[in-house]
Amino acid sequence: MPLLEAANLETWYGPVPALRGVSLNVEQGAIVAVLGANGAGKTTLLKTLGGALEPKAGSVRFDGHDITGRHSWEVARSGVIHVPEGREVFRHLSVRDNLAMGAYLRRDRDAIAADLAFVYQTFPRLAERAAQHAGNLSGGEQQMLAIGRALMARPRLLLLDEPSLGLAPLLVSEIFDVIRRLNLERGLTILLVEQNARQALALATSATVLELGRVVLSGSARELAENRDVREFYLGQGAQEAAGPRGERRWKRRKQWR
Ligand SMILES: Nc1ncnc2c1ncn2[C@@H]1O[C@H](COP(=O)(O)OP(=O)(O)OP(=O)(O)O)[C@@H](O)[C@H]1O
Ligand SMILES: [Mg+2]
Repeated sequence: MPLLEAANLETWYGPVPALRGVSLNVEQGAIVAVLGANGAGKTTLLKTLGGALEPKAGSVRFDGHDITGRHSWEVARSGVIHVPEGREVFRHLSVRDNLAMGAYLRRDRDAIAADLAFVYQTFPRLAERAAQHAGNLSGGEQQMLAIGRALMARPRLLLLDEPSLGLAPLLVSEIFDVIRRLNLERGLTILLVEQNARQALALATSATVLELGRVVLSGSARELAENRDVREFYLGQGAQEAAGPRGERRWKRRKQWR
């Protein structure tokens, strides 16, 4: 049984559909990447899974329990922790207090202290800046803090929305490295939304491509990395070779996806 099973999700913003029948499974211990262009519905999907948005139809099951339409705090309490796009750290709180906020649903003080030590060990820069206002951190440090805060909640499934967005290449590699280690060393299951398809696919077990609110492709990360459309549109490879007359090949191949 997958840890997370999303089936036929339909999420609308007023009269406008943003997810149109999205299904997705995340196996325990996997890293699943969600790829797609701007506006494809990636953030909407994470918000729907995390309980910030209620789907009009479809279902979300986590660890065998139906969590469709549950409040985000309830979903978080069951172990699904969302690191939103744009980080959203508490700018006027210190780094330490931001991390403490991540553990607000917990009462196990000793384990909280151990997790804080783990976060500081994972992100030494946060330890150095523990007393500093989060608003004064660099973009990369804020991303580390956002992930660190999520770890303080003892996630069973981490929903990461574009953790590499806006970071310098070296920092991007550092963040991807941490994601890999959390998965390998802690067995953390991760659903990773990324526009950085190359690095996401290098890391992921499987991947799903969204387009206009629909799943157009899904498979193992290796299959997707070798897929011509993914190479052309997301990895920027083979564009010349694939550009047929009047763009027909693109359309035909896309049709095959459905
Ligand atoms: N609060 C909102 N109200 C109305 N429409 C919205 C809202 N949020 C998103 N949308 C629309 O829903 C669609 C999906 O948006 P979403 O943010 O999920 O895309 P995304 O794949 O995360 O894009 P990006 O890569 O730019 O972050 C877009 O057409 C967007 O304009
Ligand atoms: Mg988004």
